[in-house]
Amino acid sequence: MRKLLLAVAAAALIAAPGIASAQAPIVLKFSHVVAPNTPKGKGAEHFKVLAEKYTNGKVKVEVYHNSTLYKDKEELEALQLGAVQMLAPSNSKFGPIGIKDFEVFDLPFLLPNLASLRKVTEGPIGKKMLTLLDSKGMVGLAYWDNGFKQMSANKPLHVPADYKGLKFRIQSSKVLEAQFRLLGATPQVMAFSEVYQALQTGVVDGQENTPSNMYTQKMDEVQKFTTLTNHGYIGYVVVVNKKFWEGLPADIRGQLTKAMDESTAFANKTSAQENDEALADMKKNGKTTFIVPTPAEMAAMQKAMEPLYNDMASRVGKQLIDDVRKTAQGVTN
Ligand code: LMR
Repeated sequence: MRKLLLAVAAAALIAAPGIASAQAPIVLKFSHVVAPNTPKGKGAEHFKVLAEKYTNGKVKVEVYHNSTLYKDKEELEALQLGAVQMLAPSNSKFGPIGIKDFEVFDLPFLLPNLASLRKVTEGPIGKKMLTLLDSKGMVGLAYWDNGFKQMSANKPLHVPADYKGLKFRIQSSKVLEAQFRLLGATPQVMAFSEVYQALQTGVVDGQENTPSNMYTQKMDEVQKFTTLTNHGYIGYVVVVNKKFWEGLPADIRGQLTKAMDESTAFANKTSAQENDEALADMKKNGKTTFIVPTPAEMAAMQKAMEPLYNDMASRVGKQLIDDVRKTAQGVTN
């Protein structure tokens, strides 16, 4: 009884106003795999600043970049176990935990521009997709952009025949796997943190990524050619551990939501510029030779990849593909 009374008294003390500030802050670990000077890296830092400000220091956000805590597959498991509280994996990385729908964004030539993407993610389709995460012990808070992907290898890539027989590193998405198979190449799933070395040592011949990811991982220094295909998109779903999120006091959850909303606006406003700057820096570096495909070459690539829409319908859902296509159509920047 005495023990119980002491415990109640201690709890009352902790709950007393004025003493709360002396309490240890709630630690929110935000782990990601890219460099700090990327759209996601900057978004995470922005969130840290705002979250700590709006909660008056009651929440401390620790950002771990460049896979310092976990690599791609591990980070999702760590989130589910509660070892970290927040992540922003790319859309292409949810398949292995049983959510295939986000792979719709891997379909090449699906989104003509970021405005069309936004219409999808910010509309009913995007909102509904976020709810799928609930059953996996996480809550989807937002979509963050990176940008459009380019192809790179040690040989010039112009038309589908150039890809034949080459090995390409891919993210863990069945759509991306099928994409490279259609081009006659061999796809190999690999964690982002291992790509530079795999390219350097010739474990793989090529890869696809955004200029920002390529530049900050120095991929341009180990790839002789980069073709500006803009064929596909990389973006992120910001997710938080569900138990952690729902266990937060309502006022703190509200403050973090405000910080996230503002960080999303910031990340999505600056992503295109980040990628433009990375592209300019790689051009200045002069390590990789840039190829601008002709309209005929682009048409050949698009034609070679078109069967994906049918082939992947059973995986990501025909209705979803049709809905995204319809929503994205006709939206101009
Ligand atoms: C990749 O694995 O290439 C990207 O998803 C990395 C990232 O998070 O942008």
